[in-house]
Amino acid sequence: MVTRIGMGLVGAGFVGPHHVDAVRRLGFVDVVAVAGSSDESGQKKAESLGVPKGYGSYQALIDDPDVHVVHNATPNYLHYEVTSAALAKGKHVISDKPLAMTAAQSKQLVEQARRAGVVTAVTFNYRGNPLVQQARHAIARGDIGKPHFLHGHYLQDWLLKDTDYSWRLDPEKGGASSALGDIGSHWCDLAQHVTGLRITHVLGDIATVVRTRKKPRGSREAFQAAGADEVELVDIRVEDLASVLVRFDNGARGSFSVGQVCGGHKNDLVLEVCGSKASMRWRQEHHNELWIGHRDRANEVLQKDPSLLDDDARGYAHLPGGHQEAWADAFCNLMREIYACIAAGPPYAALPPMVATFEDGLRANRIVEAILESAADGGAWTRVRE
Ligand SMILES: NC(=O)c1ccc[n+]([C@@H]2O[C@H](COP(=O)([O-])OP(=O)(O)OC[C@H]3O[C@@H](n4cnc5c(N)ncnc54)[C@H](O)[C@@H]3O)[C@@H](O)[C@H]2O)c1
Repeated sequence: MVTRIGMGLVGAGFVGPHHVDAVRRLGFVDVVAVAGSSDESGQKKAESLGVPKGYGSYQALIDDPDVHVVHNATPNYLHYEVTSAALAKGKHVISDKPLAMTAAQSKQLVEQARRAGVVTAVTFNYRGNPLVQQARHAIARGDIGKPHFLHGHYLQDWLLKDTDYSWRLDPEKGGASSALGDIGSHWCDLAQHVTGLRITHVLGDIATVVRTRKKPRGSREAFQAAGADEVELVDIRVEDLASVLVRFDNGARGSFSVGQVCGGHKNDLVLEVCGSKASMRWRQEHHNELWIGHRDRANEVLQKDPSLLDDDARGYAHLPGGHQEAWADAFCNLMREIYACIAAGPPYAALPPMVATFEDGLRANRIVEAILESAADGGAWTRVRE
């Protein structure tokens, strides 16, 4: 008989409910509690998600013996304290990215997690797409030869207008970076994951395109459209646009751009890897297709179809060809792997490589910090700390 596992969610804004949906699909996880920023919001969120208990503080949720796994989907500035408190209580933790606001905080969490001996993961969820796994295995097998150039972008438009505002733009709440930390970190994680390479050096050029914004006086969750609320003018200090040159540990070169002010680009993450034999490209907005580029024959587009995928990637596709799988399905793939590890019980085995670890979360912080340092130095090549 499968032991049932209790999940508790802290922070039920935009992404939190997707954590709930994903674990519900696993069949052996009970969503037992939600914590909000007040009793009222905790109870309201619990009711709207059909969760039995709603708490007004994360500590109350962590103290609940029915909660075995804490999902941290709070704004960035709370990541460290919520995760640290959950680890101190011996709970498994699934943290949304970033692991913490700074590399120094993330390092402490890595060490605390090691001591706690529980299962911990960070949701770099694009790894969970079946065609991302297909590309990873194909590249490891040598299908495109030795990678020598990785390029792409991650562009969005939800901060294009000066009436767009989010806590992500407040360094106290979001951290020292906006576009790079929020979405550039996904691109870097994906590039490293798909190729098995590590980013060693970066050269960054960053800009704040919308320098003054109209901040609503009331609170608002991510991606909610601006209303007619009263506003105050605020100066923006974090970047909403960046271009970065990258070097990898095998000598490969790369470049990527991130922007939250690029009209028409909704969640446009593109990664292309050019190797000595061929190229491969995956685009999040068309994520049921993998482009394979050849020199001496026609290019191909591999459709997400379990019967066409390699054995190692097939398990991540759950519908036949032509039935589109999407963001939420990839997110669920991640949860399936993490909860399988939790369900197997102690001593907990290492997570499969498809899941980002706290060490990967720390690495993401270090890359972003190196890019900010490079930009502050006027665009100097900067080494990513190991
Ligand atoms: N993996 C992904 O693709 C992805 C996507 C979106 C967001 N995220 C990450 O998830 C986190 C949340 O982002 P979001 O877009 O959902 O933000 P959001 O603002 O929509 O939601 C955050 C929620 O946390 C709640 N909250 C604030 N203080 C709290 C407290 N003390 N205790 C409990 N809850 C509290 C807020 O009321 C809100 O409901 C961020 O760190 C972000 O980087 C990851």
